[in-house]
Amino acid sequence: MSDYIYLEEVDSTNDYLHRHIREYPDGTAVMADIQTKGRGRRGHDWYADAYKMLPMSMLFIDPLEPETLTARAGLAVCDALVEIVGKGFEVRIKWPNDIIAAERKVCGILCESGALRSGRYVICGIGINIAQDRDYFEREDLPHAGSLEMLTGRGFDKKEIFIKVAEKMRERVRMPFSECYDEFKRRLINLGRRVRIITDDGERSAEAVDVAQNGYLICSDESGRFEVGSGEVTVRGEDGYI
Ligand code: BTN
Repeated sequence: MSDYIYLEEVDSTNDYLHRHIREYPDGTAVMADIQTKGRGRRGHDWYADAYKMLPMSMLFIDPLEPETLTARAGLAVCDALVEIVGKGFEVRIKWPNDIIAAERKVCGILCESGALRSGRYVICGIGINIAQDRDYFEREDLPHAGSLEMLTGRGFDKKEIFIKVAEKMRERVRMPFSECYDEFKRRLINLGRRVRIITDDGERSAEAVDVAQNGYLICSDESGRFEVGSGEVTVRGEDGYI
């Protein structure tokens, strides 16, 4: 069976893999042309302008250090975009799951785990904005979002990006996170900045000072240093999105 699955239309590529979990091997990657019920983090929808966003998901069975998969996926997307767009393309990670270029979100990541009789699996969902224009993001009230086409002025082949991200992700998932750690810190946009940590229970302001060996964000406020896990948390800049 192929490790790459192409679907014309699906509700959500993450949900597709959850439904077919027993049919596909470790490392399987699925993409769709149209995703009708994409899900973002913290219960948000993930908007999809037909054909202009690349929704993809990958399945990992019993991965190493599963809590670091969002971080590895972020790095894999950066690796792939730099290779495809070019070395000069400045792409950063806004902890824990946003990929930022020119201060705009070009990609979001949603990792979800589940149990199998024999162990655990993680589905890593990645949505990359490929070809939407400024008007689209304005209409959808997504002022912080951008697409590769809008930021570079050239067109991209979704399938090429899909395959490159999947290859980079398989490489990153095989490495221990300690080998990704320095690069992850280098790509993080939050370090040294004031951030707002937003959870369902409320908000807390702090400075993002470092990253722990498990990928958690280390913050500091008047009560001292504390770690934030990537679970149900959003991190925003104190005065805006970044
Ligand atoms: C976020 O930034 O909130 C995460 C967005 C993740 C969206 C992707 S698109 C492919 C995959 N399928 C989904 O339903 N969601 C993820």
